[in-house]
Amino acid sequence: MIPGPTPVPEKVLQALGKHPIGHRSKDFQNLVEITTTNLRWLHQTQNDVLTITGSGTAAMEAGIINTLSKGDKVVCGENGKFGQRWVKVAKEFGLDVINIKSEWGTPLNPDEFKRVLEEDKQKKIKAVILTHSETSTGVINDLKTISTYIREHKVALSIVDCVTSIGACDVPVDEWELDIVASGSQKGYMIPPGLSFISMSKKAWEATEKSNLPKFYLNLKSYKKSLAINSNPYTPAVNLVFALDESLKMMKEEGLENIFKKHEKHKLAVSSAVKVLGLKLFADERFLSPSITAIKTEQFDAEDFRKKIKDKFDILLAGGQDHLKGKIFRVGHLGYVNDRDIISVISAISYTLLDQNIISPQQAGEALNVASKHLNVS
Ligand SMILES: Cc1ncc(COP(=O)(O)O)c(C=O)c1O
Repeated sequence: MIPGPTPVPEKVLQALGKHPIGHRSKDFQNLVEITTTNLRWLHQTQNDVLTITGSGTAAMEAGIINTLSKGDKVVCGENGKFGQRWVKVAKEFGLDVINIKSEWGTPLNPDEFKRVLEEDKQKKIKAVILTHSETSTGVINDLKTISTYIREHKVALSIVDCVTSIGACDVPVDEWELDIVASGSQKGYMIPPGLSFISMSKKAWEATEKSNLPKFYLNLKSYKKSLAINSNPYTPAVNLVFALDESLKMMKEEGLENIFKKHEKHKLAVSSAVKVLGLKLFADERFLSPSITAIKTEQFDAEDFRKKIKDKFDILLAGGQDHLKGKIFRVGHLGYVNDRDIISVISAISYTLLDQNIISPQQAGEALNVASKHLNVS
């Protein structure tokens, strides 16, 4: 129950175990054609969605180095570990970063984006870069509202980390006119780590013509050229593409609405149960990520608690990152997770608290009761 790598369905595991095929073969081209069509479906877009062999950060970096130039002014939203990563990447490539920060656990304030973008009369800002679902804190940022301000600016591109939101909640790329959307395979996609995805709008492709940052492996023009013949510029992780094909088919069968509803009910089940257990949510309750719930542990050490749950129940929970280590634990409910997993994790948390006399048996019962009310909603 961590926010990635997430559980992998049996069918997907079997696809991984197939003998690899030539990446220049007709069979593989057919596969690329199908997966690309289905990736567009998942992203709700007509834009190109490129598959890169590399983790989510490869797609994040690709978004920056393909569309921007040294010294470009960019706005970076930062309210957690992954927002911080954007700032690091941007600075590494010599971009001039305007940082919009928010306390870890609270969402980015869309009004600040509005103000900064409106004040930029000379249209110096070339991109607004942010994380949709901030995995380190369990906060979902209001990308929908922020994207409207980016559009009104007209010049700035939106570059968004949707690593733990694609495949978990609604990210209508075309409707919100998102230019660059990065994600990774070991999350909502239900396949092992190793692939990342990047969707590129027409405006994003136009920006690639002016970009002067160094790039070779992650030069997206090569990927676009190859995609025209359903191919890849370099040897892709063929078996992960087999897995992707299978997982996207499973997702299509389930349907986007059902996928989003499932994540929503799991989020509500976990968050309502932990409150009954007397624990506090780390994130602002109005902005809970559908993929992960971060829980404060004021009365005990979170690392010790995680270890107890791993040893006793073989359930792995995520810890806090950086200054939050020992202070929070995080329950991932992203991807191939079902109601039984949710009931198990709530029971494991309850048992461990009960065992330490932190809660009463009544609270343990009530936690399952409130969770089930959400789980019963199909
Ligand atoms: C929101 C977010 N962004 C980026 C990443 C980085 O992805 P990767 O570790 O696949 O490079 C992660 C991974 O946990 C994430 O959750």
